Amino acid sequence: MEKSKPYVILSAAISIDGKIATKTGDSSLSSKQDSIRLHKLRSKVDAILVGKNTVLQDDPLLTVRHIKGKNPTRIILDSKGTLFTKSKILQTSSDISTIIAVSKIISKSNLDKLNKFPVDVITAGQNSINIKLLLKKLLDKKIETILVEGGGTINWEFIKQNLFDELIITLSPFLIGGDDAISFVRGQGFQKISNSPNLCLKSIKKLNNHLVLRYVKV
Ligand SMILES: NC(=O)c1ccc[n+]([C@@H]2O[C@H](COP(=O)([O-])OP(=O)(O)OC[C@H]3O[C@@H](n4cnc5c(N)ncnc54)[C@H](OP(=O)(O)O)[C@@H]3O)[C@@H](O)[C@H]2O)c1
Repeated sequence: MEKSKPYVILSAAISIDGKIATKTGDSSLSSKQDSIRLHKLRSKVDAILVGKNTVLQDDPLLTVRHIKGKNPTRIILDSKGTLFTKSKILQTSSDISTIIAVSKIISKSNLDKLNKFPVDVITAGQNSINIKLLLKKLLDKKIETILVEGGGTINWEFIKQNLFDELIITLSPFLIGGDDAISFVRGQGFQKISNSPNLCLKSIKKLNNHLVLRYVKV
């Protein structure tokens, strides 16, 4: 059967109470061993995808560094094209393949700003990014596997729209608390447990104090 979208893996390091960052944006929940595992996984996928707030908050490189391996394409969801020109993503875009997904509401000045960099700007959606349409456009570009690395708002969109296939969670030995800390899944949430996707636990890996849980959708 012909594929309708790339294979999507949601990935995050979460505290025991389900947070991916504190209210001040501290998200250092992983460990050295877990980062090596993550970078191995990154080297095997075609692309890594994150939301714009994750780039604004963490200024990540989204590359493979802890092991030898190829860098996947980086995809940033940024409807209005507000990424800073000084962000590591834009600054390294001549070396690492980068896609900025925007919507039709992007201003001409922000589009001109992005087009000064060697990035592929893909428009999908009117006000916000239409993720389903974006995935179709990515598949047309031969991107067949995507690792979604958050944040919570983007995770919710993939879950709500049933657009993911697999979930890999690192359960980190921390408790964060606080109503304003960032949860693994944000947005409106489901009304009932029965609305949740059904997940099957496929493997558990213990990395000292961290647990890596792999679920697939059934
Ligand atoms: N522990 C971990 O593993 C981990 C991993 C990643 C991130 N984090 C943390 O998560 C936090 C950021 O999470 P977040 O929830 O604030 O933001 P996010 O999910 O990174 O980004 C959300 C933004 O993406 C944009 N977007 C584009 N298309 C969208 C669509 N179709 N639907 C929804 N949003 C869309 C929206 O801005 P526009 O409307 O302007 O486009 C939205 O505000 C940071 O503190 C980061 O450190 C932790």
